[in-house]
Parts: sequence; structure tokens; C-alpha cells
Amino acid sequence: MVGALVLSGVLFFLTYTLTRSNLRDREGELGLSNQLIAETLASVRASLILATVITVLVGFMLGIVSSERVVRPLAGAAEAARAIADGRLDTRLEPTDDPDLNALTDSFNAMVARLQDRVERDARFASDVSHELRSPLMTLAASVEVMVSRRDELPERGQAALDLLVADVARFSGLVEDLLEISRYDAGAVRLTRDELQIGEFVRQAVLASSMPRTAISINERCTDIRIHGDRRRLARVVANLIDNARTHGGGTISVHVCPAEDSASHVWIVVEDRGEGVSTSDRERIFERFSRGAGSSKRGTSEGAGLGLALVREHVRLHAGRVWVEPRHDGTTGARFVVELPCESSRSPQSHVVTPVSS
Ligand SMILES: Nc1ncnc2c1ncn2[C@@H]1O[C@H](COP(=O)(O)OP(=O)(O)O)[C@@H](O)[C@H]1O
Ligand SMILES: [Mg+2]
Repeated sequence: MVGALVLSGVLFFLTYTLTRSNLRDREGELGLSNQLIAETLASVRASLILATVITVLVGFMLGIVSSERVVRPLAGAAEAARAIADGRLDTRLEPTDDPDLNALTDSFNAMVARLQDRVERDARFASDVSHELRSPLMTLAASVEVMVSRRDELPERGQAALDLLVADVARFSGLVEDLLEISRYDAGAVRLTRDELQIGEFVRQAVLASSMPRTAISINERCTDIRIHGDRRRLARVVANLIDNARTHGGGTISVHVCPAEDSASHVWIVVEDRGEGVSTSDRERIFERFSRGAGSSKRGTSEGAGLGLALVREHVRLHAGRVWVEPRHDGTTGARFVVELPCESSRSPQSHVVTPVSS
């Protein structure tokens, strides 16, 4: 549009001044009166102004049409890039009629295809490695079990070495199982086996099957009738991992509470609290990442886990459309409070809070 304006301005100026000087030069020769010259110049000026306006308008329209043609495919590319960043790696750009744009579309699509291939290969790699490690590990575990059954026949140093071996094989098996599970998430191959679970009863069972079966549980009376639609094995694993962590990284008495979510009637909370040092503000997000261990773990020398426990908890909970986070205890004492928020199906009208400890 600016181009059209400048061009028509120049043409206007040149045509008008040339016509005027021409008429003035030949005024006597042609016997033109001053009035006629003025009238002719006025009509030339009017025609030129009209021509300028038309040129600018046409330039403006052409500018809009051609910039739309150029920008539309770029908007499509930006949208595709956003979808890819959100994890939809099968997104591709549609081919266009424009051969210049097709070159861009082809290289964009080829780049995304390579990226998708790479991501899928990495996901398969972790899962393949874990699979390959599984069978020799099972043989190793079975052999160690045979040795454990004949532990008394070993000399004292042999017994100590066997105890170390037993602990490490258990730790290694746990790591391989966790890696296998997490690589299924990466490959997008996780399918939940959903059952209708009565939340209070389910948490009771999960705690009984955990490494601290005598942990105190309190179930808010409003939750006795609440059911969730969840994968029993995965949710039991969530509870077990949080209790394991409270045992190894926390300290003191552990307690588990089931209560309605504070800010949503359609969610329920499973809370695991301990009386350890708690989790520092800077670590509260980081500890949910893979292979991430809090600053305190290495200090205390706990060599049990590889830092996958909370990453798995988060993946399991997310797949149930829930959330998990850690915060300080609400009663002001030191310790960590892990909250798992899950969507639930039905909730009775609010009643009083009743604490039902199973055991302590
Ligand atoms: N109850 C807890 N109290 C204090 N720190 C914790 C607690 N639970 C987890 N953490 C911190 O979070 C880190 C990550 O936990 P996790 O993913 O289960 O890995 P791991 O138990 O293998 O170290 C732990 O190393 C620990 O530093
Ligand atoms: Mg752990």
C-alpha cells in the first residue's frame, strides 16, 4: 500500500507540473485564456487525485490478499509446532498448491518424522533394556534364594556377603520393574484396568500390603461412600511408594488419611504424612522428576531407590486425571505431607469428621 501511495504521488507530481508548464509555455502560441488553463489544470488535478485513490485502494487489496496467502501456511506451521510440543508427534503439515511453500512443508514434515522416530526409538530402548535385564535377574534372584536357604552353612563373612547380595538384587529388581513401567508411559502403551473401588477400603488394603502394614489410617466419614474408578494395581503402588518414602526419607510415625478434597466436591484426597525433616521448598517440584533425589537423600546415605518412585507416582496419578504434590504438615510440626487428589464418583452430604485408626 505504501508503495502504491509513493508511486502514485510521484506520477501525480510529474504529470501535473509537466502539464502546467507545457500549457504556460504554449499559452501565446495557442491563444489560450488564463481561465481555460486554470479549468484544464483543475480537471487534470481531479483526474489524478481519483487515479491516485484508485491505485492506493487496489494496492491495499492486493497487499491483503498476497500477505494472507503467505501468512496462512505459516499460521498452520505454528499450530503444528504447538501440537508437536504438546506431544502429538504424528502431526504433519498438509501439502499446498504453491511449490515454494511445498519445499518448506516437506522439510518440516521430514524433520518431525525424524523426531518422532527418535523419540519412539528412545522409549523402546529403555523398555528393551529392562526386558533383557529381567530374565537374568530372575535367575540371579532364584539362585540367591537357594543360597539364602543354606545361609547357616556359610562362614560368617560369606553370610555378610550374601546379605549384601540379597539387598542389592532386591533393589536391582525394583529398579528394572520401575524402568519397565515408566518406559510403558513413554511408549504411550499404558492402558488402565479400571475397577470401581470404594476408596476407604481400598486404601486400607493398600496400606496392609505395603512395607508398613501397621500404619495408622484415618478415614473421614464423608468418604465411606465415595467410590473411584481406578486401576487397583497402579493406585496400590502409589500408596506403597509414598509409604516407602515416608519410611526411608521421612521419620517417626507415618499416618495415612482419606478425606474429601478441600476445594472440590468431585475429588478425594489420600494424604501420607510423616514426621521427618520434610521437603524443602526448592525440592517440592524437582523430586517428582525421574532419577531425581532430594538433597537430603545422599546426605543420609539411603541407597534404596534410584529416584523413580515419585516419578511413577505422578504418572499413575496423572493417568487417573488426578494430581499429586508435597507440602509442609498442616499442624505446624516438621514433616512431609504428600497429597494425592483423585476424581471420585459419589459423595454423601457432609457429616462430622470421624477418625478411625486401624492400628498404630
Ligand atoms: N517423605 C519424604 N520426606 C522427605 N523427602 C522425601 C520424602 N519422600 C521423597 N523424598 C525425597 O524425594 C526424592 C525422590 O523420591 P523417589 O522418587 O521415591 O526416589 P527414591 O526414593 O528412589 O530416592 C527422595 O530421594 C527424597 O529426597
Ligand atoms: Mg522412593
